[in-house]
Amino acid sequence: MSKLFDVYPLNNIEPVKAKGSYLWDKNGVQYLDLYGGHAVISIGHTHPHYVSKLTEQLNAISFYSNSVQIPQQEELADKLGALSGYPDYRLFLVNSGAEANENALKLASFHTGRQKVVAFKKAFHGRTAGAVAATDNLSIVAPVNYNKHVSFLPFNDLQAIEAGITEETAAVIIEGIQGVGGIKVASEDFLKALRKKCDETGTVLILDSVQCGYGRSGKFFSHQYAGIDPDLITMAKGMGNGFPIGGVLIAPKFEASHGLLGTTFGGNHLACAAGIAVLDVIKQENLIENAAKTGAYLWEGIAGIGGYKELRGRGLMIGIEYDFPVKDLRNRLLFEHKIFTGVAGSNTIRLLPSLALRKEEADIFLEALSKEIGILAL
Ligand SMILES: Cc1ncc(COP(=O)(O)O)c(C=O)c1O
Repeated sequence: MSKLFDVYPLNNIEPVKAKGSYLWDKNGVQYLDLYGGHAVISIGHTHPHYVSKLTEQLNAISFYSNSVQIPQQEELADKLGALSGYPDYRLFLVNSGAEANENALKLASFHTGRQKVVAFKKAFHGRTAGAVAATDNLSIVAPVNYNKHVSFLPFNDLQAIEAGITEETAAVIIEGIQGVGGIKVASEDFLKALRKKCDETGTVLILDSVQCGYGRSGKFFSHQYAGIDPDLITMAKGMGNGFPIGGVLIAPKFEASHGLLGTTFGGNHLACAAGIAVLDVIKQENLIENAAKTGAYLWEGIAGIGGYKELRGRGLMIGIEYDFPVKDLRNRLLFEHKIFTGVAGSNTIRLLPSLALRKEEADIFLEALSKEIGILAL
């Protein structure tokens, strides 16, 4: 029997059903999902509007190449522009976050005629060669020599960007809130200084919003807390609530031409149906507001329990850093309390639940955490 290429450490759990913030395994055990498969589940599992939009589309036409009219792409671009506050940006559709970043880096290079990229310590931008080169993570090293063009500056260090970004820099790529890097929030002053420096040097500013976008922070994009407008905004994860879809929002100053960018699957009918359903639900159910409110509630609860080294994040993107490895704590949350959480590094619990998380569901986690932290303190 052929085997899978074994690259993922797996929990011995097989989810077979999901609804809202819950999953059920093949034995009928119910789990609270506070991780959403790396921030992917934005509107909740199997939302009825999402299921019906996808089913309807599947029964009509699921795919054709980007050589024909696909009005669903226009509808998605229009709804995204309106809800995100970028109605004059144009949308290029792809299939994943790394692909979005790869295309953003390409566009920046085409636009400026330059090759150098500035990224930040502990950044994660994905696993394609270009995105890996811009990733500063001990477990991933660029396989080919793409990284000779990339330099890494310290995150949130205003002084470092003065000398680090020059008239040779094509692009600066940054996450508004570092996800894999440990839920570290880019300060508003830092983002404003980056915007200014990019303007002075003619550098393209890319905000990788793959993890911190799509309403998770309590604003559509986390950089909107700083009131800056990037040149390119990349997104994926929550965009399709599980259906693979990514995109780049592109400022008006970039000129499109036929053949400049391309992809076989990007913007396919089914992906658009998923993307449109997600935006409909985010809008109808005020999920961005809910992320801010329920996020604040969770934050206060976690702060009340204490025992951590640092609490970081915004909205429903929360990192709880302890001064010990959290592997056992997470295992107890999963196997004793039936709650999925994520991790960043070894000491930080990473919470990325559905934006529809309710207070009662947050309470289930707070009760479990309080009990476990209490046991650890004994
Ligand atoms: C900030 C950020 N950018 C890019 C990516 C890559 O996205 P994908 O796995 O969809 O290629 C990730 C994935 O975790 C991410 O967190």
